[in-house]
Amino acid sequence: APVVVAIDGPSGSGKSTVSRAVAARLGLSFLDTGAMYRAMTWWMLANEVDVDDAEAVAVACAKPVIVSGTDAAGPTITVDGQDVSGPIRGPEVTAQVSAVAAVPQVRARLVELQQGCARVAERGIVAEGRDMGSVVFPDATVKIFLTASETARAGRRAAELRAKGVDEATITAMAADLARRDAADSSRETAPLAQAADAVLVDTSELTLDQVIATIAELVEE
Ligand code: ADP
Ligand code: CDP
Repeated sequence: APVVVAIDGPSGSGKSTVSRAVAARLGLSFLDTGAMYRAMTWWMLANEVDVDDAEAVAVACAKPVIVSGTDAAGPTITVDGQDVSGPIRGPEVTAQVSAVAAVPQVRARLVELQQGCARVAERGIVAEGRDMGSVVFPDATVKIFLTASETARAGRRAAELRAKGVDEATITAMAADLARRDAADSSRETAPLAQAADAVLVDTSELTLDQVIATIAELVEE
């Protein structure tokens, strides 16, 4: 059977960077499921759906056509054919995504798309998010739970935003938002962020990116 590597963890633990690099190194497809929740949220905001109205979100979430390109060399994400890879990283979407991701109908729809991506991945896939090992790919070949101290995670996000030229006030606001979002993601009823019983815990606080990538690639090749 094709390899499925499931990587979960809180924001800033290194999931996207590490998953993409591991996929590229091992010749596997790559799926950023957070980008799909962000794309759904972007569409809700663009169409003036009240994201705090779970029933409205549940009804509307059937409408957008979300397509994730799974090439590790250049992942893409479109909504109704429009490239949204830029806007889905902005503060508006980031602030609202946890509310949208807590709606069961949203999750059901995106989980189906995610499983479809894995089915068509020729050599296998590295999929990262919050519920890859627990819900989407319970039979994954390898499950990793990536963590890092809150200080390390907030510091990495800030450095990333600073490098993009984002102003300090927005960086401070997004740091506060990171803690709030992690709490929301961990405490929601449907598919809360939690380490699966059979997942390997990797704490990246004191590791370099190269060390994390090598550790996970080794676990997959075992
Ligand atoms: P996530 O997808 O979990 O939110 P990212 O992959 O976006 O995390 O990583 C956040 C930032 O942390 C990236 O800019 C990444 O380069 C940086 N980073 C620095 N050191 C590490 C490390 N040891 N492990 C993982 N990421 C790191
Ligand atoms: O970039 P960051 O690590 O901060 O977040 P992300 O991976 O892009 O995910 C954005 C949000 O989507 C998370 O805060 C969760 O609310 C939600 N999400 C989820 O519920 N389940 C997933 N499998 C992936 C993301």
